[in-house]
Amino acid sequence: MPYSYRVCVVVFCALMLGGAAVAMAADAAKGRSLYQEYCSMCHGAQGKGNGPAAAAMQPRPRDHTDSAYMNALSDDHLMRVVSDGGPAVNRSPLMPAWKGTLTPAQIRDVIAYLRTLAAPASKP
Ligand code: HEC
Repeated sequence: MPYSYRVCVVVFCALMLGGAAVAMAADAAKGRSLYQEYCSMCHGAQGKGNGPAAAAMQPRPRDHTDSAYMNALSDDHLMRVVSDGGPAVNRSPLMPAWKGTLTPAQIRDVIAYLRTLAAPASKP
């Protein structure tokens, strides 16, 4: 079905089902629990880049609370690095690819959560 028609269907559903529409948007609360499960061992429970596995890594896992750094990264960039791993954006291969583990929707949830860690929240 053509894209514009799909958008209409989504908008229609959103209007009809208010609550369900919220579930379709990226969900930072879900992202938080995914983050704790899959990312915190390297990036740290608070996202500061100091998880238990981080000590031996060079470069260190990123500090997601570093606003100057994180807010400069676009959502596209974050989508690519989380889906395809560090080498996809010329970063360390120690940053794994998550596309086999997480669905695109789950990756968007995790990114929504990352955006809450760096203050002020950015909207690139
Ligand atoms: C095995 C350790 C490890 C795990 C697990 C891990 N990362 Fe990373 N991550 C890294 C390392 C190391 C870097 C730094 C790469 C660099 O700067 O070259 C990094 C960098 C990043 C960056 C910054 C990318 C950039 O362009 O600078 C983001 C965003 C990120 N990780 C998100 C995540 C998310 C989300 C998860 C969980 C789904 C996750 N990481 C899980 C090790 C890890």
